[in-house]
Amino acid sequence: MTNDELYERREQTRVKHDILRHYLERFAHIVAHKWESITYIDGFAGPWNVRSPDLKDSSFAIALDELRKARATHREKGKNLRLRCFFLEEDRAAYQQLESFAEGVKDAEIKPQNGSFEQSVSSILKFIREGAQGTFPFIFIDPTGWTGFACHRISPLLKLDPGEVLINFMTSHIRRFLKDENSRQSFEELFGSAEVRDRVAGLTGQDLDDALVREYRGMLRREGRFTHVLPAIVLHPEIDRPHFHLIYATRHPKGVEVFKEAEKAAMQEMERLREGAQRRKREERTGQTELSWARETATESPYYSQLRDRYIGKARQSVLDLLRIRKRVLFDDAWILALESPLVWESDLKKWIKEWQSTEELRVEGLVGRERVPSRGKSHFLVWQSGA
Ligand SMILES: C[S@@+](CC[C@H](N)C(=O)[O-])C[C@H]1O[C@@H](n2cnc3c(N)ncnc32)[C@H](O)[C@@H]1O
Repeated sequence: MTNDELYERREQTRVKHDILRHYLERFAHIVAHKWESITYIDGFAGPWNVRSPDLKDSSFAIALDELRKARATHREKGKNLRLRCFFLEEDRAAYQQLESFAEGVKDAEIKPQNGSFEQSVSSILKFIREGAQGTFPFIFIDPTGWTGFACHRISPLLKLDPGEVLINFMTSHIRRFLKDENSRQSFEELFGSAEVRDRVAGLTGQDLDDALVREYRGMLRREGRFTHVLPAIVLHPEIDRPHFHLIYATRHPKGVEVFKEAEKAAMQEMERLREGAQRRKREERTGQTELSWARETATESPYYSQLRDRYIGKARQSVLDLLRIRKRVLFDDAWILALESPLVWESDLKKWIKEWQSTEELRVEGLVGRERVPSRGKSHFLVWQSGA
């Protein structure tokens, strides 16, 4: 089965897996330089709607694959990276498949567990501690809704330092059930606050989604003392709406760089997949096959471009505000601020800098020798010289 077949009618899962795969590929290589082992936790492992007999379209198989690749590269350099995984699944039937998968793995330490994520926090912590000082934990939380990972229960996992998390924030579900009185308590538990519902009351559409994601990012930042919390948007394949956000939390700028690369690559693929899914939907409605050429890449849809414009506008304004207030800003700080918005890339920031330089509102300080553009880690400063 090709990847297109494996993920047909669940293209959003492919985008999620693409982000996970791309991120872990570089994450594992980087972590292996300094750490003896990686402890990878999948709190809602599945398998879930998989089509491949060997489960290669499951998050746990994808993760293990990437971790193994990093280990192989480092082995060539004489380093032995230990791989440790804890896979949790509540559903009995799915767990049985997970367990046989785990039994078949002989080259990594895999602990499958049949149970609920929240109830297993202490077992997860124990498993991580058993990895001793030299392990770096990465926690993937991929639920089917917004329950089962209440803020106060997962807090000890968020606080792990070192440690990173990637959470599937089910924006479409959350948006839909927000006003449902029966969900009041579970929302409070998700955000760890009773006030979020009031704070987002009255907002609709994209403004509502953004506010919910902002609130959740704020919670992660506070609970886990993460310095950087970034959302990637995964759009519904057939309609112009966000399906969910993958929210990534780290304490290192390198993580931001790697996550943004994963996001950017996945967004290009997402647009290609959405083009196909929307054509399929039209064909099913009209009963007519549309002429099409197999494409490797897609042109951006108007909806995607509109979303990108939205976030570019917001991020540009944030950088501008910072420059106006502080007058002299380390390029690295402007970079973090810009890239914390989804769909905004380093090339966008560099474009604004060029524009502001051309109008003499901004100058870059600290460039030496043949350096023409600012970059991170080089003490390059953006100096705002306009009165406005
Ligand atoms: C969205 S699916 C996970 C998909 C998987 N991460 C992937 O990408 O291939 C969520 C899984 O979590 C399981 N689940 C639901 N509630 C759970 C809970 N409270 N604790 C652990 N697993 C749970 C479901 O049975 C389902 O298999």
